[in-house]
Amino acid sequence: MSTAHNAANLGDIAKTVLMPGDPLRAKFIADTFLENVTQFNTVRNMFGYTGEYKGKKVSVMGSGMGMPSIGIYSYELYSMYDVDNIIRIGSAGALSDDLSCMDVVLASTASTNSNYAAQYKLPGTIAPTANFTLLKTAYDEAAKLGIDVTVGNVLSSDTFYSDDKDANDLWKKMGVLCVEMESAALYLNAQRLGKKALCILTISDHLYKNEELDAYQRQTSFTNMMEIALNTAIN
Ligand code: ADE
Repeated sequence: MSTAHNAANLGDIAKTVLMPGDPLRAKFIADTFLENVTQFNTVRNMFGYTGEYKGKKVSVMGSGMGMPSIGIYSYELYSMYDVDNIIRIGSAGALSDDLSCMDVVLASTASTNSNYAAQYKLPGTIAPTANFTLLKTAYDEAAKLGIDVTVGNVLSSDTFYSDDKDANDLWKKMGVLCVEMESAALYLNAQRLGKKALCILTISDHLYKNEELDAYQRQTSFTNMMEIALNTAIN
């Protein structure tokens, strides 16, 4: 059994999958943190691996950028590969003055400018929401690792480059912490399919402060996020 986007057979993929946007980050996680690794997907270079972390089976696979991409891969993982938990690990641009580059955010909810939820034909507006058990576990595991996290509402945007120059100010005014491009679709898929999802984000740029990460900071902060995600996956 395989899909148009995933060459894995049923059983090749663990119940919990970590999803970085970049498939080369999936490879990095597999190479750096997992043992007894097998690769289950190379279709479109969207690499996927299954291995063991501290003796427990975990998978890691790229999601690509944007809600259509993570929408496809996560839907197939949940509905065709019997995956129960997906933990996205990604980057985000900060809106909040209280955040700085390298900070880690747990997205309890994801606001969005996307039309993804229109498919459900709801008589109102649904709130794409993280699974509380995963959220609490990630929060607790971060504390054990000595990593500070901020928990709150993020924006999943359909545009990285936008003509709408006021949009960020308006979301910031509503207390939205940061902007990325995938969480809302992942949360909606999980909610629709009765599965669990969480997004862990590292601030890679600040939209109101002049801050950038150097290569060392980038690697360290992403490693922190991966360790929170891996320890959440096995607990
Ligand atoms: N991911 C990281 N930084 C981002 C930004 N500024 N906008 C959208 N997604 C991002």
